[in-house]
Amino acid sequence: MKTLFAHRGMSALAPENTLAAFALCRQYGIKWIECDVDILADGTVVVSHDDTLDRCTDRSGSLYELVTADLAAIDAGSWFHDDFIGEPLPTFEQLIALVNQHELNINVEIKSCTAGWEMTDKLIGNVIAALEQLDTGRELIVSSFNHLALAEFKRRHPQTVVACLFESTGLGDDWESILQVCEAEYIHPQDNNLTQTMVARFKAAGYKINVYTVNDLARANQLFNWGVDGVFTDTAHRFPSKYKQLYA
Ligand code: G3P
Ligand code: MG
Repeated sequence: MKTLFAHRGMSALAPENTLAAFALCRQYGIKWIECDVDILADGTVVVSHDDTLDRCTDRSGSLYELVTADLAAIDAGSWFHDDFIGEPLPTFEQLIALVNQHELNINVEIKSCTAGWEMTDKLIGNVIAALEQLDTGRELIVSSFNHLALAEFKRRHPQTVVACLFESTGLGDDWESILQVCEAEYIHPQDNNLTQTMVARFKAAGYKINVYTVNDLARANQLFNWGVDGVFTDTAHRFPSKYKQLYA
């Protein structure tokens, strides 16, 4: 069984990391979502890839200078298309409610919070608190490029499966010791230059592999044939339904 993750939701059809993008998943037969989470100044965990509002909202400025009350005035949809005018920047709690309602499974990517370790530590604690609301039937993977943060998350929440993210340029000789420190079951490597030899090496070491970001169906099939377990894609809607039967 292979896993198809809707990367930031159905992000080719709706503004990334919004409730609208995640709400589209089930109608396309997608059960796993990937989302990015970061933190506001008052500790609220929000769903956002960037640590500023500049790219994906009608505002600009840092997330770390906002409080929850500011979210009501932020439009995270109109940059994408007029159909999404007024789409809010969601809190993580709102997303968890949708995940429960739509019976989705979720990969939560804890962003490399640039506001310092104190805020990173708060982000980890508040993600753990919010996860209390996730229904028991839902599957969960927590991942991060920030391996220190991921190790700390795993120390505080050992029952959760975790995954180490690596950019293709960041996959040095020490990848396995990093996975060991984080007690990770998964490696999430970037697709750029990923080879069959590397996939075989990850497998031989006993890790499961989900690759980002794979929008080409032929490449996804090649990766699956090499033994990759899942791919993150912006274009899950283009994967034919005959393939979707294969996916968890
Ligand atoms: O979690 C997979 C992928 O989302 C990691 O990269 O930059 O898209 O969050 P990014
Ligand atoms: Mg991500």
